[in-house]
Amino acid sequence: MTSATLPRVSVVGLGKLGAPLAAVLASRGFTVIGLDVNKTLVDAMNAGKMPIVEPQLNELIAGSKERLSATMDANEAIQKSDASFVIVPTPSDSTGFFSNRFVLQAMETLGKALKNKQGYHMVVITSTVMPGTTGTEIKDALEAASGRRVGPDLGLCYNPEFIALGSVVRDMLFPDSILIGESDTKAGDMLQTIYLQMCEKKPPVQRMNFVNAELTKISVNTYVTTKISYANMLADICDRIPGADVDAVTKALGADTRIGAKYLKGAMGYGGPCFPRDNVAFAAFARKIGARADVAEATDRINNFQVERLSTLVSKFAKAGTRIAILGLSYKPHTPVVEESHSVKLAAKLADAGYVVTVHDPLAQDAALAVLGDKVVGASSIEGAVRESDLLIVATGWPEYKEISPDWCKREGQRLTVLDLWRTLPADKFEDVADLLYLGSGR
Ligand SMILES: NC(=O)c1ccc[n+]([C@@H]2O[C@H](COP(=O)([O-])OP(=O)(O)OC[C@H]3O[C@@H](n4cnc5c(N)ncnc54)[C@H](O)[C@@H]3O)[C@@H](O)[C@H]2O)c1
Repeated sequence: MTSATLPRVSVVGLGKLGAPLAAVLASRGFTVIGLDVNKTLVDAMNAGKMPIVEPQLNELIAGSKERLSATMDANEAIQKSDASFVIVPTPSDSTGFFSNRFVLQAMETLGKALKNKQGYHMVVITSTVMPGTTGTEIKDALEAASGRRVGPDLGLCYNPEFIALGSVVRDMLFPDSILIGESDTKAGDMLQTIYLQMCEKKPPVQRMNFVNAELTKISVNTYVTTKISYANMLADICDRIPGADVDAVTKALGADTRIGAKYLKGAMGYGGPCFPRDNVAFAAFARKIGARADVAEATDRINNFQVERLSTLVSKFAKAGTRIAILGLSYKPHTPVVEESHSVKLAAKLADAGYVVTVHDPLAQDAALAVLGDKVVGASSIEGAVRESDLLIVATGWPEYKEISPDWCKREGQRLTVLDLWRTLPADKFEDVADLLYLGSGR
């Protein structure tokens, strides 16, 4: 298909997920208009450089300038597109449910703009929403504001993305599968066409009704977090058995195709903007409808124990005043996001316990220091952090930390203790200078 025959797309919400989606669609030939209530983001997209740190994002924007624009005017976005992807925040409320308030505001503005448009339009909800809400309050809000009925004239889909920050562009181009909850075949067909053009590898497309798609989205994340907590539970067990090694166990477990190796590594707990809250939402939803979500709840309990487990381990090697360097503060590599980061939680806990804590991160240091304040000191370099520490914790698997030199670890008359939580360092190179300790290793 050429740009002229492809559906034109608007992306509503140019944040961590929306900006990459707009850029990826434009890079694959679609004419895309972004819509946001934040003028800074709109201006930045029009200037060709977003203030969002995500690999390949700005390269794609620069390479697709002629097909990519942004506006704060919903009428313009609707007139210049055939389909609108809505990717606005759905923050968790005090009960653990996701709030649809921003989605409903978007339905109001898009709906009003649709009153002035002739012909078919499709609205795609990409924000993560609670099961049962696309086909009820979201559909109702869109119909009320537009004066149209969802059907032959107006399509509605629920279509969450399965991406991880730090690899959003790659994950969008090469997804394992595409999930579509559809109002009807016409809307589902149109969305499937968009994806088959957008993705480099043609993925299987799972099409279903709204509620099944909504449930699938949070079930995927709940299942993945269960694997993470399972591996961490195993690591805790292996810590207590002489000769045990969680890596040996998880490698063998993961080789079983019924289980699979991904996300099965005894290390830190999960964090970030999605995993923790999706699990909580799943359990809250189950409770509300009178079902049980014991697995999701146990997964959370194990996760919430991980920082305490690490600080107990640290206390075996350190005393008040020990200088501890924590390398890696983002919740995963390749992103500056520190939301629910276990490294940041660990830094705070260790500082509160009286250790002298220095922190470093290639991208997330400022964001972490904004949370940690003057409890900790920010390092100006990896080398400085390592040289000035009595105990080193490699807490996020950034590739930069593979380059740590054994020379920086040399200490007069003693060996440096290193907690290498993700097995980042090449152990043989450090044999002479440091004791590398791993989680889940009963040594
Ligand atoms: N970030 C992730 O890793 C991730 C992964 C999967 C799903 N999600 C889901 O995607 C959604 C968006 O997440 P995000 O991380 O991109 O959020 P974000 O906060 O980075 O971006 C949201 C954007 O929406 C804009 N916005 C808010 N209300 C608007 C409105 N009425 N009209 C137009 N724009 C509006 C905001 O100004 C902001 O730029 C959430 O539902 C989230 O759960 C996020």
